[in-house]
Amino acid sequence: MKILFIGDIVGSKGRAAVKQLLPSLRLAYDADVVIANGENAAHGKGITRKIYEELLSYGIDAITLGNHAFSKADLYDFINQADRLVRPMNLIPTGLGRGHLEIDVKGTPLVIVNICGTVFMENTDETPFEAMHRIENNFTNKIVLVDLHAEATSEKIAFAYMFQDVVSAVVGTHTHVQTADEKIMNGCAFISDVGMTGPYDSVIGRDVMEVLDRFSGIRSARYTVSEGESQLCGLFIEIDETTRRAVKIERIQIRPKDESITRS
Ligand SMILES: [Fe+2]
Ligand SMILES: [Fe+2]
Repeated sequence: MKILFIGDIVGSKGRAAVKQLLPSLRLAYDADVVIANGENAAHGKGITRKIYEELLSYGIDAITLGNHAFSKADLYDFINQADRLVRPMNLIPTGLGRGHLEIDVKGTPLVIVNICGTVFMENTDETPFEAMHRIENNFTNKIVLVDLHAEATSEKIAFAYMFQDVVSAVVGTHTHVQTADEKIMNGCAFISDVGMTGPYDSVIGRDVMEVLDRFSGIRSARYTVSEGESQLCGLFIEIDETTRRAVKIERIQIRPKDESITRS
């Protein structure tokens, strides 16, 4: 099974990059399924029904979320009907939507699990380790991919060691900065962070000057999504469907043609 995973899509610029680049990426990697993290898809925080449907229309098969999952109230109205949406199973409020999703990929089931880390992250009711232990026996003989949405690389690496024999892939998201540590651990594909699909000239997607103001002590500074061209960060994983073990992992990072910083 050839899986394409797109890192946190930030705002309209990130969505535009997906629209523009995904068709050719899908062809280039001969992908069977495309998963994307959409926790920042609506103006940098959360997701709406309209944007959920927009992302699916671009060829994304399933959307994971993160700590910003419930930032837009709109989600409460459609999350229980959204059969291609996965929310972090340990994020409060629990009990809405689904924390794991099984989809059919050309006749083979794929289970997508979404969990938040608890190091430097709020609003969780259990650790990712407790959450995964609770469900790990539900998916024997199925390919399982975990989007571990967490701040700390240590927590993500430790999680991969804990569950490398149980799942086929542990894909880190949330920091918006792609790490270069992709590897296959005993048949489990792993990367600490896929990175962000959003404005290249930004501080993890946000307007640079506003972030500089905030760090300079101006508490009223806003965090709006940056303008400018978008980068796309992703990951390609191939899983042997017989053994359910990963056989290939490759980072994807497409930067805008003009990388120069143009701010005055
Ligand atoms: Fe994010
Ligand atoms: Fe996040």
